[in-house]
Amino acid sequence: MKIAITDSQNGVNVGYIQLTIYKDQAELAGRFGDFLGRIPFKWRYPVGVFEDLFVHKDKRRRGYGRLGCHMADAALKKVGAHTGILKVGWSDDKNWEKAKSWKTRFFEDAGWMSLQWTFPEPVLMAKNYELRP
Ligand SMILES: CC(C)(COP(=O)(O)OP(=O)(O)OC[C@H]1O[C@@H](n2cnc3c(N)ncnc32)[C@H](O)[C@@H]1OP(=O)(O)O)[C@@H](O)C(=O)NCCC(=O)NCCS
Repeated sequence: MKIAITDSQNGVNVGYIQLTIYKDQAELAGRFGDFLGRIPFKWRYPVGVFEDLFVHKDKRRRGYGRLGCHMADAALKKVGAHTGILKVGWSDDKNWEKAKSWKTRFFEDAGWMSLQWTFPEPVLMAKNYELRP
């Protein structure tokens, strides 16, 4: 599902989040199989994948990215996801080492746990929604 991030003052669209809910192993097969086995907490289905977060270039550094993370949490909790996973993307950035570093920190600040077992890339992250009321 794709959800617009909007400016609460004027309703203008400033970006979006994209999420996929996987209810069982068969649906998730092939995408995150290896990764699931390494999540260091007791995870279970439904698993919510935070596929994408995007804020339009001219609207960045105003807190909308953080808002998108809150929206993803709310949407995943609403559909009953127990576990969240995401893959940090930085391939479009010119200085990708720098982008990898701040984007990983960005999601850590939003409560995602970094699992850098595939170092140097990609950075995969997980979140346990059962511990987050
Ligand atoms: C990642 C992205 C969604 C952040 O959106 P944003 O609206 O600019 O984020 P916020 O304003 O909420 O920033 C929150 C914090 O993240 C960090 N941050 C954001 N952009 C940063 C940048 N370019 N460099 C370093 N730190 C940055 C800062 O700590 C910032 O807090 P501050 O502005 O108070 O210093 C946006 O840059 C984007 O759409 N990028 C392209 C798509 C992408 O990379 N998506 C995420 C990977 S899956």
